[in-house]
Amino acid sequence: MQRMKFPLPHPFSLGLLTAFLLGARLTAGDLPPADAPVVLTVVKCARLVDPGTGQVLADRAIIIEGDRVKAVVPAAELAKALPAGATVKMINLGAATVLPGLIDCHTHITGQPENFYEDMFRKSPIDEATTSHIYARRTLDAGFTTIRNVGAGNYVDFALRNAINTGKLPGPRILASGPALSATGGHGDLNGMSPYVRFEGDINGIADGIDAVRKKVRENIKYGADVIKMLATAGVLSEEESVGAPQYTLEEMKAIVDEAHLWGRRVAAHAHGTEGIKLAIRAGVTSIEHASFIDAEGIALAREHGTWLVPDIYNDDYILAEYGRLGFPQKMLDKERLVGRTQRENFTKAVQAGCKIAYGTDAGVYPHGWNGKQFFHMVKWGMTPMQAVQSATTVAADLLGWKDKAGQLAPGFYADLVAVKGDPLADITVLEQVEFVMKGGEIYKNRLTADAVKVFE
Ligand code: ARG
Repeated sequence: MQRMKFPLPHPFSLGLLTAFLLGARLTAGDLPPADAPVVLTVVKCARLVDPGTGQVLADRAIIIEGDRVKAVVPAAELAKALPAGATVKMINLGAATVLPGLIDCHTHITGQPENFYEDMFRKSPIDEATTSHIYARRTLDAGFTTIRNVGAGNYVDFALRNAINTGKLPGPRILASGPALSATGGHGDLNGMSPYVRFEGDINGIADGIDAVRKKVRENIKYGADVIKMLATAGVLSEEESVGAPQYTLEEMKAIVDEAHLWGRRVAAHAHGTEGIKLAIRAGVTSIEHASFIDAEGIALAREHGTWLVPDIYNDDYILAEYGRLGFPQKMLDKERLVGRTQRENFTKAVQAGCKIAYGTDAGVYPHGWNGKQFFHMVKWGMTPMQAVQSATTVAADLLGWKDKAGQLAPGFYADLVAVKGDPLADITVLEQVEFVMKGGEIYKNRLTADAVKVFE
């Protein structure tokens, strides 16, 4: 299609220009009067889980203005907490339990496996771009109001994030990495191909050597990366024979971290292997993803450096149950068998040692929207239910650099919240069935209050 050409400035832009040049003044009619009623939303609930203090508060009212929390008060004190003359939209969630919106620190939102061959050879970035919004919606509906997307080809995650941020699509807040930095032949390289197979036009994260990795970090940031993802060791769902061998040198990892920090970005390192985990921590990454074969020294180093661990301990169940049927090569299934149980045992050790553990699931390896299934495993393998909730709220927000705006319901924080029936501290699996989702003060899902949204003036 030919682009339309305007011989003269477009009439609309002319109008704007004229208004600008004439210094069009705002008249009283354009501004809300000084005494305009304040419009507030109030969410009332029988129970509020506060991961900030580790407390559960009974009968609370959360007062919301715009996209932020203004105050949280005992429901009995609501009347005196509201400014006189405020217009209030009242949402009474009855007996439900409210928590801050959940955070998944490790997703691949632009795809999920359907068939190994189809996914690898028959799909393009266009397929990903046309379907990723469905996954974003499912993620939000599951109660995850924020995700950190750590790895997507062709900048598709940037486009998705931008469309959500500008209100074009419903979805979680996304911190996106774009393509993960990978060594040639490493976990992020499609390294099983013949040297004559090419993926024309593919934008990936392959970079070797100090200069190239620095350039790749800059490139990712130039096109929209909020965070840098680096593949420090071999992995499961790729062609390498090893599942944990280091794939970058300490010097390369340091260069990646240094460059990312220059531009104000944090680094997440995929690392299964014992040595690669330590190299990445020493290089200064902010988080270790998977952390499967972490040993006592690695745990001590993570504590010393304040490095977060993001162990995706639900994944194993899904891969072993489904990946044979989906046509994945046997060697990947064999590698998964080496990782799954040990990763969970090491998770227990890391919990006992007091490591910072943020909730991250690798959603996209299993279906999006199932993000909540990992809570059960985290409790089974050693966390208290409150610790598991904190891992997906306060601890996760801190990892993202958002500890002052997400992960809690307190004045000034995003009005991102979820509600569940029942008590997640008694039965953590209720977090797999989120009934109500609010993000930035707007309701995206509501299976609780068909008739309870009332407006008072
Ligand atoms: N993306 C990861 C990889 O391919 C998935 C590992 C999943 N397995 C696990 N037990 N966490 O390496």
